[in-house]
Amino acid sequence: MSTRTALFFCAIVVLVTSFLAAQQNTPTLTDDQVNARVESILQQMNLHEKIGQMNQLGAAEWNKDPVSFEEHARRCDAGSFLWTIDSKLMDRLQHVAMTECRIKIPLLFGYDVIHGYRAMFPIPIGMAASWDPAMVEKAQTIAALEASSTGLNWDFTPMVDIARDPRWGRIVEGAGEDPYLGAAIARAQVLGLQGPQLGTPGHMVASVKHFAGYGAADGGRDYDSSYISEELFRNVYLPPFHAAIKAGAGTVMSAYMDLNDVPASGNKWLLRDILRRDLGFRGFVISDAEAVKSLINHGYARDMQDAAYKGITAGVNMDMASKTYLDNLEGLVKAGKVKEADIDEMVRQILAIKVRMGLFEHPYVDLSKSEAILRDPSHRQYTRVAAQRAMVLLRNENHTLPLNKDLKSVAVIGPLADAAKDLTGSWGVDNATVGPSILAAIRAKLPSARVEYVAGGEMKRAFLPVDWIDHSREDAKPMTPEELAAEVNKSVEAAKAADVTVLVLGENSTMSGEGSSRSTLVLPGNQQHLLEAIAGSGKPVVIVLINGRPLDITWASQHVPAILEAWYGGTEAANAIVDTLFGDNNPGGKLPFTWPRSSGQIPIYYAHNRTQAPEDDPKFTSRYWDVSTFPLYPFGYGLSYTQFEFSNLHLSSPTVKIGDKLEVTAEVQNTGSVAGDEVAQLYIHQQAGSASRPVRQLKGFERITLAPGEKKTVHFTLGKDELSYWSGQSKSWIEEPEQFDVWVGGDSKAPLHATFKVEP
Ligand code: NOJ
Repeated sequence: MSTRTALFFCAIVVLVTSFLAAQQNTPTLTDDQVNARVESILQQMNLHEKIGQMNQLGAAEWNKDPVSFEEHARRCDAGSFLWTIDSKLMDRLQHVAMTECRIKIPLLFGYDVIHGYRAMFPIPIGMAASWDPAMVEKAQTIAALEASSTGLNWDFTPMVDIARDPRWGRIVEGAGEDPYLGAAIARAQVLGLQGPQLGTPGHMVASVKHFAGYGAADGGRDYDSSYISEELFRNVYLPPFHAAIKAGAGTVMSAYMDLNDVPASGNKWLLRDILRRDLGFRGFVISDAEAVKSLINHGYARDMQDAAYKGITAGVNMDMASKTYLDNLEGLVKAGKVKEADIDEMVRQILAIKVRMGLFEHPYVDLSKSEAILRDPSHRQYTRVAAQRAMVLLRNENHTLPLNKDLKSVAVIGPLADAAKDLTGSWGVDNATVGPSILAAIRAKLPSARVEYVAGGEMKRAFLPVDWIDHSREDAKPMTPEELAAEVNKSVEAAKAADVTVLVLGENSTMSGEGSSRSTLVLPGNQQHLLEAIAGSGKPVVIVLINGRPLDITWASQHVPAILEAWYGGTEAANAIVDTLFGDNNPGGKLPFTWPRSSGQIPIYYAHNRTQAPEDDPKFTSRYWDVSTFPLYPFGYGLSYTQFEFSNLHLSSPTVKIGDKLEVTAEVQNTGSVAGDEVAQLYIHQQAGSASRPVRQLKGFERITLAPGEKKTVHFTLGKDELSYWSGQSKSWIEEPEQFDVWVGGDSKAPLHATFKVEP
């Protein structure tokens, strides 16, 4: 390159960089600049102000707290507020913090914007079922744009807990059972929420949660203890956190539960050795709500002072909503039990995030722009795309689906068929938009057909201990057995009189989520009875599932020709479902978890180890005598209205040196007559080594669209990251010189196979 060309090139780079910087609240700051800024702020702070930064106040306390929020902000008591979406209140508090509190430090306003703000996307397990990180990133970009326009700047998302027990209600909030898929979805969420760097306009700071191992709660009971070996912890539970941290997540939320007998929010090994030393986290840690105070409930801390001591010693920078730090840290410092230098360290990490976010320069939000952003029709339109892409077709005998739009009559049956609000799922923001119900969407799609609706029964949670859930339905008088029988009879009559029945089954949205664990996966209420009665009507039946966890649909999978998993699909869920039922959308999602036949198979996940006998050994393999060893549907499974064929699995070499890369390609062809999406998935297995390795592990995937007859080549790379694992023997990540299997196909049972060898 000549000098002139080089200068010209440099000038262009400078121009582009300054243009990008001008788009951002703050220019990219170097670590040194951030540190210098933080030090200069810290120098001016007194002890109370420092402790205030470590305190997050919850709006739920509004009425119980004798001191108003404004007064707290004035006294510099808080670094953050949560659980309010009142823009004016946030704006007022920010003004108080910036003008009336002695030390002028901007506030963080935190909220759980989990899958959308005004425009609701499918619940996270549904988003993961899309196997489409680009879509997930775009959806979270929209969520962040909407939420940040109202003054929120901190999002308690993503939840990246691996869940291998679907009784656990919070499986709905994560990406399922697999660390590789979980990592890809985690990365996409962080990038969508935060943008390319903290401080990007229209974005927020993400909080990755719940660190760590929450999904392994005993018995699937929310908040219960987790016991996880270090091997499992590092190989399975941590990778999604690591991916989120590498994507720049600014904050991490420490979990509630005991991890191997030490509560996560008081666990020094977890929050210092693992999170900071091993995963390289440089942001700050917020406890889960009241988790610092709860160290007492665990029987880990003696009293509030001890809880504050154990929280800060473990490395929790900010106490969510329990005021344990606010009320106790000063005393601990004065008594010499906590050094002010330790407080400084905690505060530095909080201030650094605020500096990186550009909050000191731009603490306020121009609320006049918010309504236009919230009303942007493209957001709601994109929720329909997301809901379509999340759809998983579980069964479709004899091409039952898609249905013909010329149908003269449809029976729409099931307690969820006309329940519009349930479609937004758990963690809906209060002012989220509720779209049409499935019934309304079918009526709109088929204006000249006769569409008859029967609820067919009802479902209720058996116990109602959770006070933040709307229990009005459960509290209503239950139907009598006679009323239920009448509903079922009416449903059967409607089914008999219709060309086809769309039977909507699942769980109310309050039946999964926080505090919503179950002991069984059976269809709640009288739905199994309703299902069997309708299936006996002799007319074609299609099941649409609305749920956030796998349910026991084994009977349905044997007696009903078509089953569509639609999740809680968000604002446009019903339209997306109807698009799919009538062929305007070809489903291409895949299961992010293994679907059990019954609750008794739990835990069941595809990446298990082999036993002393091969899987098909009738006698000595691990199995039950009363139910198949195999799940109902494997991880990664999902059908389409077209068919795909995988062929020509090719490796760049039969061997690869430790640390080097191997290229894997395969061809995928759409052999059917309509366009469709396939998710090409690559799995590996290490045949021998210093530890037993899972029978298969996902190590690559790509969702592609193919026209009828079209063929594409998919490319994967296997290198150190994919071929290593954490060894409990050597207490380190190792890549071993061993023989490996590799498979590529449309689910975790993919048959197309090759082998290669890793060489020293
Ligand atoms: C408790 C939940 O466990 C957590 O996920 C959530 O972010 C906080 N409450 C704040 O709402």
